[in-house]
Amino acid sequence: MSTRKKIALIGAGNIGGELAALCARKELGDVILFDIPQKADFARGKALDLEQNGSVLGYDAAIKGTSDWADCAGADVVIITAGIPRKPGQSRDDLVATNVPIIRNVADGLKSACPDAFVIVISNPLDAMVYELKRRTGFPRERVVGMAGVLDSARFQLFLSREANVSVKDVRAMVLGGHGDDMVPILSATTINGVPASLLIPKDKLDAIIARTRVGGGEIVKLMGTSAYYAPASAAVAMAESYLLDQKRLLPAAVYLDGEYGYKDLYMGVPVIIGGRGVEKIIELNLTDDEKAMLAKSAKSVQGITDVVKATPA
Ligand code: APR
Repeated sequence: MSTRKKIALIGAGNIGGELAALCARKELGDVILFDIPQKADFARGKALDLEQNGSVLGYDAAIKGTSDWADCAGADVVIITAGIPRKPGQSRDDLVATNVPIIRNVADGLKSACPDAFVIVISNPLDAMVYELKRRTGFPRERVVGMAGVLDSARFQLFLSREANVSVKDVRAMVLGGHGDDMVPILSATTINGVPASLLIPKDKLDAIIARTRVGGGEIVKLMGTSAYYAPASAAVAMAESYLLDQKRLLPAAVYLDGEYGYKDLYMGVPVIIGGRGVEKIIELNLTDDEKAMLAKSAKSVQGITDVVKATPA
């Protein structure tokens, strides 16, 4: 039996497949690709394809497709994409009715099979789904996070780099709040290698970039007919890697707020440090009045959809 780390991916669809490919290439551990019984063979096929890819690219990772929770037992990290993605014209909130029963079903499986895992949720509507997963499993907040901020920040960074005509490697940005159309780009934390972005990009262009970032997911849904998967998978893997390798990266993530930023009993995106103990610290920034107002607006939307999820009958 392997003594490698074990990463269970719940949902073997578009994001699940890309997650498996990245985890394997980075040799983060062995991978379980879990899906519903009707998709078990699909998951097995994808797993086999990815194992064969290892003999071309030269990585050692066992990848197994399954619909049996027993195969996920003892996972160090679990990444959840179970659910349906958006179709053109749908908002993330439109997914509640289908994705709430799914996240509850996954929470029950996790609770028995992977009680000690670090859990990253990607399923939408993100903030409400990760809230429900934590509530249902009763796992501590240090071990249940949502992936949104790394992706939203990456989109923001790309658009900034294109506008300023600089390498995307040098652009650092931070997008906080809920993973919805009122997410909050923090301009004071947006620099091009330390140089304030506002020095290189005029205000009207910055405003247009912020507007595009806010609907960045929708732009792709409109083009592809389904939601993005390469960047979402990479963003979640950055978080998983920080946990598995105790990198202590400072990343924006949806975490359970218990008074931080003035919010309680709510999941929303804020900067955190992720290390070997999970969420090791929540960083409280000094926000401007404008940023506070934007965060309040975003929190209100998140609270609204979280309340709908909480009220959804079992
Ligand atoms: N348990 C495990 N897997 C499930 C369950 C369940 N209860 N219900 C559905 N799934 C699986 C589906 O069978 C499907 O294979 O989840 C997978 C989702 O894959 P895709 O449809 O390809 O969706 P994807 O693009 O990967 O997005 C998944 O992430 O970003 C969000 O909005 C997106 O909520 C969506 C999720």
